[in-house]
Amino acid sequence: MTSAPSPAQTGDSGPTMDKFPDHIAIIMDGNGRWANGRGLPRAVGHERGVEALRRTVEAAQDIGLKNLTVYSFSTENWRRPVSEVNALFGLLKAYVKRDLNRLAQEGVKIRILGTREGLPEDILELVKRAEERTAENQKFNLCIAFNYGGREEILRAAKAMARAAENGDISSSAVDEAAFEQFLDTRGIPDPDILIRTSGEYRLSNFLIWQAAYAELVFMDVLWPDFGKHHLLEAIEIYRKRERRFGGLASGAA
Ligand code: FPP
Repeated sequence: MTSAPSPAQTGDSGPTMDKFPDHIAIIMDGNGRWANGRGLPRAVGHERGVEALRRTVEAAQDIGLKNLTVYSFSTENWRRPVSEVNALFGLLKAYVKRDLNRLAQEGVKIRILGTREGLPEDILELVKRAEERTAENQKFNLCIAFNYGGREEILRAAKAMARAAENGDISSSAVDEAAFEQFLDTRGIPDPDILIRTSGEYRLSNFLIWQAAYAELVFMDVLWPDFGKHHLLEAIEIYRKRERRFGGLASGAA
């Protein structure tokens, strides 16, 4: 079946198809500093962060991206004050409740990455509802890393694979990267081509440790609540100018 070319393919409203990314991952950092700088409570920064997330999901769909993953609560974020943890939980609930119908109608498939352990019952139900409601959608994958840590994900996958081996479902000789990836939360989703971190910090903070092995890292000097479509396009432009070698030689170097 042939479908109409996306803006990304025609180059109408975004970069040309030449080296267009399949998947962008974002560490949405700087909500607290955004709020502090305005004398506002940190929770307000997170609220504005959700608005930036909405804008970014819309922009990503607009430019023809197929996969977007965002880091919204890490396994380490439990160390924050209870009030802030509760605010972040509340924002996830509000986001799913408010946006689920629209996202489902737009063909967005929602997946929540991370461990379900320790999450309250109401969040678990909402996560289940969002994933089930959008399970058949194929236009755009939105992965929300919530209660997520890259090492935790890898360990959980290793345990699941070991259990499969104990049950005789997989033999040790069949263990390779592709087989292991089937046990990760991101199974079926291509690795990110670009990993953006906002707010001028230069760390991965335990995000997509396995999947981002060859991602182009783009650190941007904008606080997350101020992030918009032009930042997304700027990151793609930076990516397009870089040469990815996946461990090989630069073209023309051999
Ligand atoms: C980092 O800013 C951001 C987070 C820890 C959470 C990101 C969350 C959102 C964008 C909103 C929630 C969205 C959903 C869907 C739950 P920070 O607080 O570390 O900022 P700082 O480094 O300036 O203090």
